[in-house]
Amino acid sequence: MVATLLYEIPLQGGDVTDGVVRVDDTVRRPASTSTPSVHALLMHLEAAGFEGAPRVVGMDEFGRQILTYVPGTTGLRLESASDEALAGLAGLVREFHDATAGFPLTLDGWEEGSNDDKVPEVIGHCDLTMDNVIFRAGRPYALIDFDLARPTTRLFDIVTALRHWAPIADPVDRPPLLHALDVGERLRLFCDAYGVLPRDRRRLLELARLRFHRSYTVMRTRASAGGNWAKMWANGAGERIRRAAAWLDVHEDELHAHLV
Ligand SMILES: Nc1ncnc2c1ncn2[C@@H]1O[C@H](COP(=O)(O)OP(=O)(O)OP(=O)(O)O)[C@@H](O)[C@H]1O
Ligand SMILES: [Mg+2]
Repeated sequence: MVATLLYEIPLQGGDVTDGVVRVDDTVRRPASTSTPSVHALLMHLEAAGFEGAPRVVGMDEFGRQILTYVPGTTGLRLESASDEALAGLAGLVREFHDATAGFPLTLDGWEEGSNDDKVPEVIGHCDLTMDNVIFRAGRPYALIDFDLARPTTRLFDIVTALRHWAPIADPVDRPPLLHALDVGERLRLFCDAYGVLPRDRRRLLELARLRFHRSYTVMRTRASAGGNWAKMWANGAGERIRRAAAWLDVHEDELHAHLV
């Protein structure tokens, strides 16, 4: 009998989860208390015909999640900073939200985090960073890393995406590729491509401000427990949130004009 040797290739990208590896055409990720909910969601998405998420394969002998590896690229590159990519992301997030229809919106079993005060409408991804979107052929193709998913409003998830992709950030904290972008125009572009309702467009920046405030508190609490959140905090994550909120205050009227 010939044994097949499967190599573990470390995958890096995000800041939070250590020990994410690729094995053949699967990804192994440490499990957490929200894993049963996340797997149920991923199976619901598969049944709904949504292509833009990994599939659940199961759990391995070390208690790790086994998901399918989605070929493509992640992270900030020239193509992910383009307006086409932003519109593509909006379409993908819309499809994802629509595909969560029928999934129970009970709050138990998910990772806790900041949220909207309105009644949840969908399961949000809630961590739509550039490291968590797979590009293929120059376009956003799939969402990965559903660790922070939870019931929320469409707008709350949209605000999270725009925080990173518009981006709603102080220019001093933006990587050079995101420096010269017209943020107000990109907010509008995303809303048009997603089909955000007028009442949500009017509330978008107000919710962004609320989210900054709540995320700061949530992150500080997580950081106080140590681990990678503490490292992120020590590297200035909290200060970046405060600067982004201050930048939003200064530019709010001008940005709002693009949305209404
Ligand atoms: N299913 C997958 N298919 C393809 N690539 C993946 C998949 N899962 C993870 N990756 C790659 O590995 C990187 C890290 O994985 P993941 O996002 O799951 O953990 P993390 O980034 O450490 O967590 P966090 O984003 O919460 O900090 C991703 O940015 C991506 O490049
Ligand atoms: Mg990630």
